[in-house]
Amino acid sequence: MTQERDSTTYAPSAETVARAHVTAAQYDEMYAASMQDPEGFWAKQAERIDWIKPFSQVKDVNYDFGNVSIKWFADGSLNVAANCIDRHLATRGDQPAIIWEPDDPQDAAQHITYSELHGSVCRMANVLQSMGVGKGDRVVIYLPMIPEAAYAMLACARIGAIHSIVFAGFSPDALAARINGCDAKVIITADEAPRGGRKTPLKSNADAALLHTKDTVKCLVVKRTGGQTTWIDGRDHDYNALAAEASDSFEPAEMNAEDPLFILYTSGSTGQPKGVVHTTGGYLTYAAMTHEITFDYHDGDIYWCTADVGWVTGHSYIVYGPLANGATTLMFEGVPTYPDAGRFWEVCAKHKVNQFYTAPTAIRALMGQGPEWVEKHDLSDLRTLGTVGEPINPEAWNWYNDVVGKGKCPIVDTWWQTETGGHLMTPLPGAHATKPGAAMKPFFGIAPVVLDPQTGVEIEGNGVEGVLCIKDSWPGQMRTVWGDHERFEKTYFSDYKGYYFTGDGCRRDEDGDYWITGRVDDVINVSGHRMGTAEVESALVAHAAVAEAAVVGYPHEIKGQGIYCYVTLMNDREPSDELMKELRTWVRTEIGPIASPDVIQWAPGLPKTRSGKIMRRILRKIAENDFGSLGDTSTLADPSVVDDLIENRANKG
Ligand code: WTA
Repeated sequence: MTQERDSTTYAPSAETVARAHVTAAQYDEMYAASMQDPEGFWAKQAERIDWIKPFSQVKDVNYDFGNVSIKWFADGSLNVAANCIDRHLATRGDQPAIIWEPDDPQDAAQHITYSELHGSVCRMANVLQSMGVGKGDRVVIYLPMIPEAAYAMLACARIGAIHSIVFAGFSPDALAARINGCDAKVIITADEAPRGGRKTPLKSNADAALLHTKDTVKCLVVKRTGGQTTWIDGRDHDYNALAAEASDSFEPAEMNAEDPLFILYTSGSTGQPKGVVHTTGGYLTYAAMTHEITFDYHDGDIYWCTADVGWVTGHSYIVYGPLANGATTLMFEGVPTYPDAGRFWEVCAKHKVNQFYTAPTAIRALMGQGPEWVEKHDLSDLRTLGTVGEPINPEAWNWYNDVVGKGKCPIVDTWWQTETGGHLMTPLPGAHATKPGAAMKPFFGIAPVVLDPQTGVEIEGNGVEGVLCIKDSWPGQMRTVWGDHERFEKTYFSDYKGYYFTGDGCRRDEDGDYWITGRVDDVINVSGHRMGTAEVESALVAHAAVAEAAVVGYPHEIKGQGIYCYVTLMNDREPSDELMKELRTWVRTEIGPIASPDVIQWAPGLPKTRSGKIMRRILRKIAENDFGSLGDTSTLADPSVVDDLIENRANKG
């Protein structure tokens, strides 16, 4: 998958430039303004949002380690659901807010208008309220990609409750940890989640999770397939029955700009996933602005982001950004290859999609199936293509550009993170040339800096590489780690004082354009899903046969990175194929299928320093099949373990 960097530049067409919200000259002017007068700039941008009480302060930020505090529009008040729904009713009540495309193409798509969305969200809010959910309470959402997922998010926002979505691919254990982590009052789930023709038993996963939570947690169950579920009276509530009886009006709560809107658990380099907290006013302003400008969204366009609402991309770019802009957003329940490898393009043609946003891993998988799957479908409505989640290799970029975009659609390679709330670097369709695999330019208000990883000093000039930090805050930035502000400061503000540390490496090329080179910490990116190697390790060592485990990423054709596990067994256990299989299943149960190890190598010993620290650099090199550059192994307690690992290196799965 790795390829030489391709610095060919593609300028936007005259047509793209003519249509664009932002041209090159406007970008330069607006970017300069956002740097010179951030307060003035963001005060103006916040006018995108309807405020109940206008703010008088714009920015109140302290990046000093020990005192980190981030506030935007702090004395303003608003309601996110009112911004995403109510304010559009007068002008676009009958316009589709959501187009829902089910897993099975034989089933009918749904077009949900803004008026219908209003009714459904209010009913869901009333149901949640009747279950005891109020302002500030936490609600876990564990749903398939169905409209009810959006209703649930917006119903929480309407009440002022804080949602925490758990991706439906996570296991009961992972779900329980997240319910307990935020002390949720209610979990919303469905009977089953159809995906790619198969069904995940969400309700029974929830049942299993609820064995490990407080007894008081209630469960609201949406009917999706009508599949059999067990039912506990008093705890379980039938959404469809309750919603049918509920009122379709619900007064939106007045929320402070800095009240939390949602928590989203994400993986870091150490320990268990942390609850990233996003708040109300700044997040919505940033999601709305980036959605409109990055994709060059115009009124009446049909926009499709293929992500799942279980990830931040689904929060900002399926639900909040598009709906705040009064857009039509497509929600897809299925997968790119079901019933065949033409599904994405069939859906694009069927719904006349104008902006299409997906992950490099999907592009690589579809590229492997051949261009005929794309060529069958009429993609003439496509105008902007986007990618997100991991670096895109030039080969996949070129295929996306040529085969899908026919050389006419600018590709926005959007670099950002769960923590950032929205895009931080991306080319803008009508303003910038693109280069295959480059994130190109900072968004407005974003001051990226490249630091020397050792000294932490800013590296000036072009043609340089280092770690990527951001100098100052932007409204969409996360505010804290749920329940652990200290961890927030330590993770993002302690290594490089005075900056937000992204965890990514980056290069600024000769032209001053930015390229993300990948994580510099122990986070890996598997099919665009972010995974902490520490999480997989702790799942492995929880198995009785495992004495020690070290997990690293390695290049994988389709997934971008695969999960490579070195496992040391207990003295009394022998390696076997059965045990290998058992460990794979074990990790799937502990975390979920997305964490399934690609390779397990039995390791009689792990390379450690004399102080007992595992030398991951060496393990990464071995996993990458790169034995020539192992570096200095003389500081190892026992250098011979490296020879053994090389000799017995597992065949890549
Ligand atoms: C990586 C997803 C290269 C990066 C929105 C980041 C990318 C992590 C890109 C965040 C991109 C995301 N090019 N790398 N366009 N987009 N990444 O929190 O390593 O799931 O730190 O957010 O994905 O992943 P997360």
